[in-house]
Amino acid sequence: MLHLRLCSTLSVLTVTSLLWIADVSTERIITCDDGTAVQRLCCESGVISVQSVLYGRTDAQTCSEGRPAQQLSNTKCTQQGTTDVLRKRCDGKRVCELNTSVVRTSDPCYGTFKYLETNYTCFPAVHLEICEHSLAHLYCDEGQVILVYGADYGRRDQTTCSYKRPATQLQNVDCSSPTDKVGESCNGKNSCTIRASNSVFGDPCLGTYKYLEVAYVCSYPV
Ligand SMILES: *[C@@H]1O[C@H](CO)[C@@H](O)[C@H](O)[C@H]1NC(C)=O
Ligand SMILES: *[C@@H]1O[C@H](CO)[C@@H](O)[C@H](O)[C@H]1NC(C)=O
Repeated sequence: MLHLRLCSTLSVLTVTSLLWIADVSTERIITCDDGTAVQRLCCESGVISVQSVLYGRTDAQTCSEGRPAQQLSNTKCTQQGTTDVLRKRCDGKRVCELNTSVVRTSDPCYGTFKYLETNYTCFPAVHLEICEHSLAHLYCDEGQVILVYGADYGRRDQTTCSYKRPATQLQNVDCSSPTDKVGESCNGKNSCTIRASNSVFGDPCLGTYKYLEVAYVCSYPV
């Protein structure tokens, strides 16, 4: 009944909390800022929609294990702009992995041990992955128009668009370049074709075989 494999290897405990979370439909992930941890957002169906993000510390308990009290005492520490950073990087994807160095643009509270707390939902949208040099075709039913929710040209894993490609072209999985160009070309239209290529998006990672990931919804124009 439940298909959880895509999103992670889950313990019984996580399954229970997911079932509980399914009620409120927001998922919450906390990653301690220890320099190595990866935060993984994932949608079993639909695409990621980042709701709110905290980088800092707003209570003394979260990520407190093994930490001295002086690193936990400031509970009014919030970095501005973090939600926008994650929205840009993750909205419209099925899976989004990052580490805290992605959000660590400043130090909002020197000496305090911080964490990254992300609330997101899974939003129903059409999701496409188009391999480099192919054409993405976005379309809606008659009378409806496209609204692009997120687009990224690059490579985030080794398996997407990998058929018969040499390993050297697949190994850079840290090539994320969110783009507004798909929205600029397609928003408000009933259908739209766009090429997944360097000539349209520029080359964010030389030597890597890339793909375009797009999420969009169809709606009646207002
Ligand atoms: C964190 O991610 C950045 C960019 O996404 C990468 O360059 C860096 O090596 C990563 N750091 C760790 C400790 O994994
Ligand atoms: C995430 O949602 C929980 C539950 O509603 C809330 O307590 C928490 O403050 C939220 N976190 C952020 C970063 O907004």
